[in-house]
Amino acid sequence: MHMHKFEKAWLTFGIGALLVFLTVLGVSAFYLGNQPPSCLVTIDPAKVDTTKPFNEPGLKKVEGKDWDYELVFVASAFSYNPASVEVPYGAKVKIMATTKDVVHGFQVAGTNINMMLEPGYISEYTTTFDKAGEYLILCNEYCGVGHHMMTSKIEVVK
Ligand code: CUA
Repeated sequence: MHMHKFEKAWLTFGIGALLVFLTVLGVSAFYLGNQPPSCLVTIDPAKVDTTKPFNEPGLKKVEGKDWDYELVFVASAFSYNPASVEVPYGAKVKIMATTKDVVHGFQVAGTNINMMLEPGYISEYTTTFDKAGEYLILCNEYCGVGHHMMTSKIEVVK
């Protein structure tokens, strides 16, 4: 028994449509499950200076949390506040950072810390600095003419 030409065409079309459907489904499921975990907390970018904890950038000792210190950074074109900060060696530190204007990067050279700071979002990273020394913070998202000058520094002291 031979398949009718017409039947064959319809069968091909049907399988093709099914494949397209499954691909679309798979791709959208992938994107839904792929939101950046470091950017789930929101903030009004126009009110960063008056919103806790960003009204006081820098290092603060905290009690009763899973980390010992909170290290708050505010980025804006083309600098970070604070421009330099001392962190005690071996302390568990939760870094919290946001931007007041455009997208900036927050990469701590020599570590795995590499966050994107997006207006309206708080980026967080908890880490322990177990090597003393100077860590350079770099902006790795192009943000304008002063992009290459945008740096800060974490000094881990024993
Ligand atoms: Cu900020 Cu590049």
